[in-house]
Amino acid sequence: MNKATASKVIVTGGCGYIGSHTVIELQQSGFDVIVVDDLSNSSAETIDRSVQITGKSPVFVNLDLKDEKACYSFFKEHQEASGVIHFAAHKAVGESVQKPLMYYQNNFFSLINCLSAMHELEMNNFIFSSSATVYGTPETLPITESEQTQRPFSPYGNTKKVAEEILEDFIDSTDKFAAISLRYFNPIGAHDSGLIGELPSGIPNNLMPYITQTAAGVREKLMIFGNDYPTKDGTPIRDYIHVVDLAKAHVVAIQRLLDKKKKKNYEIFNLGTGIGYSVMDVIQTFEEVSGQKLNYEITDRRPGDVPFLFASTDLAKEKLGWVAEKNLSEMISSSWEWERNFRNKNK
Ligand code: UFG
Repeated sequence: MNKATASKVIVTGGCGYIGSHTVIELQQSGFDVIVVDDLSNSSAETIDRSVQITGKSPVFVNLDLKDEKACYSFFKEHQEASGVIHFAAHKAVGESVQKPLMYYQNNFFSLINCLSAMHELEMNNFIFSSSATVYGTPETLPITESEQTQRPFSPYGNTKKVAEEILEDFIDSTDKFAAISLRYFNPIGAHDSGLIGELPSGIPNNLMPYITQTAAGVREKLMIFGNDYPTKDGTPIRDYIHVVDLAKAHVVAIQRLLDKKKKKNYEIFNLGTGIGYSVMDVIQTFEEVSGQKLNYEITDRRPGDVPFLFASTDLAKEKLGWVAEKNLSEMISSSWEWERNFRNKNK
């Protein structure tokens, strides 16, 4: 795709963890990118860093998509964009249990405002950032996209499940609009450049940033939430996926929507590697790649955790021609590299 024919893509939440990696992959695939982000849980510095990596500057708009009028004006100004990738959402499971209304308000209003503006302006290609949380406690493994969704344990998870339903109802009401929901398993890792990565605000909820922050001396020790699950070593199994692999899947998904021969009204794809690793596997691999012993302790199970969760990746392979390429060591060493770079810079 050369400059003259480059397609424009709007990325909501493009300064966040997965959004920022996707902006880079889009730019490197020839797209022009318009980032909209309210910076409530991210920093505009990621834009400067993506410029360092790609040499291309995305358009950046600081805006809260919950503001219906502002959202509409933003879309009107950029209505030539050929597609929208919607990441903007709150995402902390624990916080969502404490503040459910804030989660429902933020995640639904921003989604509905984007869809309304797009509908009005006849912008018709939409990628939705969903989560494997919509499967709840799955009946069969690996999980295929046809597995029945269940009410997730957390309000955050429920925003993803209901958002998919809102999207489906909207699509059923129009013949032009097309969307793909991408259900992420457990994204970890960071860009090879070491310039962008995950930066959770406050105490991390997720395993990987907790491990790297513990090893960096920011946290005292990792608490392992239970070792009495019916798994090989008693700790839960998850499908960890490198964030750059995940980002690449978004590029392929938007390309699919832009290809009239391939696009469908609505499709759903799992994004995972299809391989399950336990918490102990992750710790062991971290110790191998970092050459450092991790301080950890076993504690009680965390409510809502399921013993096993890993994806069937067949559909993404067949329809998107996408497979995750990076292995667990590569994921973990890039997370560690990012954490060390970040701590060194902020000493
Ligand atoms: N874990 C610990 N200690 C920690 C953090 C996590 O032992 O401090 C364990 C958890 O019990 C779990 C595993 O590490 O067994 C992975 O936990 P994460 O919190 O990293 O990830 P989850 O699988 O719980 O959650 C992820 C996403 C959510 C999404 C969910 C869908 O982070 O956004 O998958 O299943 F909703």
